[in-house]
Order: sequence, then structure tokens, then C-alpha cells
Amino acid sequence: MSATVVVGGQFGDEGKGKIISYLALDSSVVATVRGGVGPNAGHTVRHGKKTYRLRMLPSAVANSRIKLMIGPGVLVDPKVLISEMSRYRVNDRVVVDQHCAIIEQIHLQRDKKLKRRIGSTGTGTGPANADRALRVVKLAKDVPSLSPYVADVSTKINELLDEGKNILIEGTQGTFLSVYHGTYPYVTSKDVTASAICSDVGLGPLRVNEVLLVLKAYVTRVGAGPLEGELDENEIERRGWNEVGTVTGRPRRAAPMNLAMAKRAVILNSASQIAITKLDVLFPELRGSRREQDLSKSALKFIDEVEQAISVPVSIIGTGPGILDVIDRRIVSSKRRTVR
Ligand code: IMP
Ligand code: MG
Repeated sequence: MSATVVVGGQFGDEGKGKIISYLALDSSVVATVRGGVGPNAGHTVRHGKKTYRLRMLPSAVANSRIKLMIGPGVLVDPKVLISEMSRYRVNDRVVVDQHCAIIEQIHLQRDKKLKRRIGSTGTGTGPANADRALRVVKLAKDVPSLSPYVADVSTKINELLDEGKNILIEGTQGTFLSVYHGTYPYVTSKDVTASAICSDVGLGPLRVNEVLLVLKAYVTRVGAGPLEGELDENEIERRGWNEVGTVTGRPRRAAPMNLAMAKRAVILNSASQIAITKLDVLFPELRGSRREQDLSKSALKFIDEVEQAISVPVSIIGTGPGILDVIDRRIVSSKRRTVR
């Protein structure tokens, strides 16, 4: 049995969705369970000709075999969830925990203020978490439109592990958006490191086998708050690092890879493996490559520098937007994968 937790090591938008979708192609995985904040997250997943834009569903939509569960710590906006379920026709695969807290119109209203003050996504998550702390928020079990999907997710996933099944736990946002470990007050409304993600879905710390920390080859950030080494718009454009937010459509700010922050993220999440995404943006010759031999000297040097700085192996490398655009180094012997 194994539980792998996938979390972001920067400010969100590291490409976790793509990595989870790739891992979910493995035939031994039976469920992906989403932790994290709620519909403030945006994942874009591309498989073949299809593009999925997700804010509430776990990222393994492309694999029709896999259950898509949402843990009790996650905030659910029923409108967003139900529209995604019908758009991607996954109703029969979705399980929502009975204790998920519900985002209502009033939370969206109240988030407008936060949007102005700290650049929140305006999706109602901060106010809904505040109401949860005040114990006045509504739960999923009290919402008729969700009743066909509501169950006890924490019990289900612990049982799946007891039966020897493999599951993926999906984090959202990134380490430096954590309300505890991030750049407060420019952060999201709760902790989003691996321990919190496990708590969100109801897994105790000893049930986790791997913590896969996802780092993008450069750093991006949406909304206000510090960003060390931030580049100006022209330079971002010149390097081809320009991106827009999935949820807000805002342009993302950008800076080069920050190894000190990566190291800190490794420690805070007890990362056992690293995935580096978008390496093809730094090294275009890698676009779409799936073989370790294709790594150019300069790309290898970049990876080596990351591994040296953080002392954790880079096991998966993203080389393009499709979920199969990866170099998977876990296949190579474990001895070779030990960082020198
Ligand atoms: P909130 O989570 O909507 O309250 O927003 C707080 C901060 O976290 C803002 O800077 C948002 O842009 C950022 N944020 C929240 N969720 C994500 C995400 O999934 N990706 C990137 N940034 C996010
Ligand atoms: Mg995103």
C-alpha cells in the first residue's frame, strides 16, 4: 500500500495538476484525494487533444478508472464543483466528504475586500475558512445538491490503504502561500504544507510513504507580496516565462529558481522526491522529451545544482504541457537516484 502526497514548493502554480495526472496513469492508483484550500486553486491538465481546467475536482480526471475525492478540510463551492462534474462527465467518480465546508454568496462578497487588500483570488475561501473557525459555516452534508456525492472520505481512504491500494493525495497552492510558513499577510487562509494536506484528507502522518514536492524551473506568483529576484515584464516576456492565472486571468509575476526557498520547502514538507516542471521553458531542446538521455548538458547541470542544494533526488522532470511530457527517473535504479 502506498500514499503519495504531492505538494507545491513555491507560490502555487508549480504544475502539480500535471504531475498528479501523470502519476494517476499508473494502474496501481485507485483514487486521488484533494486537500488544500478550495476553488481558489486552478489546475490546467492537458491530455491528448483535451484540456481540463479544474478548480474543485482532483486532477486525475483524464483517467476514467480513478475515484476523485475531496477531503473534509477542503472548502467546496457547490456551483463550481457541479459545473466541473457535468462539463467533464465525472459524476459517478466523485466523492465529497460530509465535513467539507461550503462557500456561499456572502463569502464571495466578503472576499472582495481581501482581493483589494492582499490580492486574494476573490473566490470566497478566506471568509469561508473564517466562518469555519467561528463554527457558523455550512457543511456538505447539509447541501441537497451535493447529497448524491457525499460520504466519509477519510474512512474510505484509510480503508483503501488497509486493502493495500495506492492513493494520491493532492495538495493545492504552495508552501510560501501557507498562512504559517509563507509571506504573511500575502498568503492563503490556511497551512498548505504536506502535514496540513494530510490532515485535510484525514491521513495520519505515519500513513504517508512519499512526499513529492513540485518545483517549477522558475518561480511565479500571482497577487501581492514579496518575490525575491522579480523580473520586469519585458524580461519575463523575453525569457518566455509569461503565464496567466487559471482562476483569475491575472498575469503571473516571475523570478528565477530560488534554491534557498526550495531547500526550506523541502524541510517544511519533509520532501522525499522532487518534480521539476517546465524545464523545457529553460531548455527548449527538451520539449516533449521522455528519455533521460535527452537531457542536455546544461539541463543536467541545472538539475544537479538543484539536487546538490536540497539533497533530495529530482525524480520527475516536466518537458511540456501534456501529461505524458515527462522524464521519469524513478524507473532508473534506486542507487543511481541517490544524490551524491
Ligand atoms: P486566497 O487564497 O484567494 O485568499 O488568496 C491569497 C493569496 O494566495 C493570493 O496572492 C492568491 O493569488 C494566492 N493563491 C491562492 N490560491 C492560489 C493558487 O492555487 N495558485 C496561485 N496562487 C494562489
Ligand atoms: Mg494554479
